[in-house]
Amino acid sequence: MDDYIIPEDLSMPLDYHQIISACIMAFQSYDSLLTEFSNPEEHMDYLNILQKIGECSRAIQYILARENGSFTFQITLYRLQNQLVEFYSNILLRKNLFDSKKVSQSSVLNVNTNQTSKKVDLNLAVKNTIEKPKINGFNDIAGLWEAKIMLKTSIILPKKQPQLFEKRKLSNTLLLYGPPGTGKTLLAHAVAAEMEAVFHTISASDILSPLVGESEKLMKSLFQYVKTSDKYSIIFIDEIDGFCRKRSASEQEYSRRLKTEIMCQMSNVEACQNVFIIAATNCPWDLDSAILRRFQKNIYVSLPEKLERLDLLKFHTRDTPLEMLENSGWDELVNITEGFSNSDLTTMVRNAMDIPVMELHVTKLWKKSIDDFYEPISFEDDFSKAFFKDLGELPPNSVRARPFKLEDLITEAKKYKCTVSEEDMRKYELFNKK
Ligand SMILES: Nc1ncnc2c1ncn2[C@@H]1O[C@H](COP(=O)(O)OP(=O)(O)OP(=O)(O)O)[C@@H](O)[C@H]1O
Ligand SMILES: [Mg+2]
Repeated sequence: MDDYIIPEDLSMPLDYHQIISACIMAFQSYDSLLTEFSNPEEHMDYLNILQKIGECSRAIQYILARENGSFTFQITLYRLQNQLVEFYSNILLRKNLFDSKKVSQSSVLNVNTNQTSKKVDLNLAVKNTIEKPKINGFNDIAGLWEAKIMLKTSIILPKKQPQLFEKRKLSNTLLLYGPPGTGKTLLAHAVAAEMEAVFHTISASDILSPLVGESEKLMKSLFQYVKTSDKYSIIFIDEIDGFCRKRSASEQEYSRRLKTEIMCQMSNVEACQNVFIIAATNCPWDLDSAILRRFQKNIYVSLPEKLERLDLLKFHTRDTPLEMLENSGWDELVNITEGFSNSDLTTMVRNAMDIPVMELHVTKLWKKSIDDFYEPISFEDDFSKAFFKDLGELPPNSVRARPFKLEDLITEAKKYKCTVSEEDMRKYELFNKK
């Protein structure tokens, strides 16, 4: 199903078998979900399954609309479509029930498919968008100095030092855009934590429903809820390009309606100072210009500069002795990592930290430390006291790896393939020029 893409070009032939097998896969996923439901504590990848069902349903709608009602698979597709809608609302309902933890295991298992399929509890769905920020604030984010200052000025200062903004119209919609993995989502979480705000997060996979009108209703209820709440709220629309793309021939009716609803709600919220909307995207050029216009501030979160890379590398290795090392190694490292995103750097550091542990698998000679751990022997050690053993022969909890070194980072950085290409970066440059 992952391979399935709705073609933009209407003349392109579609493979019906592919669509039907995609539907069957969705049903199979649903069956396996039912099994998982027997344990209410079990973690399930709801978003993934909802997204897949949504994709499948959109594919069917697309074929039905295009074929104009006269082809062999029509009836099957209608039936599959109906079943998908039922599955979707059922799963959404169950997700809500589980997330709210308000129902017992038995009542969840007894949910009647037919009765509940059309009654998704919107209040519960709105409350389920509330998330605890995953970090404590800006101090948990390395680099990104410019973005942090802009966010502090736009969101935090108007609340904490309102006298600075007297007689000025304040903005409350902001778009973060930039290459993947640069820290946009993290920044939104940091703002919410700093503001101690009620943090609502939504993304296309949460909200795009093939049920007629369901997505708009959720969107409407969410905005209604934050507008009437006495607490300061932030709505974070992650990956907004997922549902606010430019108009196209293959655009679905319900996705167009949802877009209109978002625009309408964003305009209404302008006067409401207790609500702030942050959206994030890594393809701003795909956004409908009417949506783009509604963001009063745009912040470009680019790939980290040299000093930002250094800050991030030191941030992720702060609990190791690397900080003590002299600057020449760090210089080499920040030069090698040019073009890395913050997320590349994070993954690269994690991989590099595995190097000393991976070396243990080929270590044959060990020494005993003062506190009785087996450690790989090094050149300056006394080889007459060495033990000749394989890692597997050593008792549990008795082995320690060599210290992590700056060279490990350099080795890993040299072979790491960064995720953002120069071509991608040119697109941002072009967009920024417009
Ligand atoms: N400035 C940073 N400081 C510390 N860690 C960071 C920073 N930026 C990114 N990371 C790490 O990279 C991961 C990915 O960052 P994040 O999800 O915020 O990127 P993003 O810009 O939202 O990416 P995408 O566009 O793909 O959604 C984070 O979970 C974190 O581990
Ligand atoms: Mg993100």
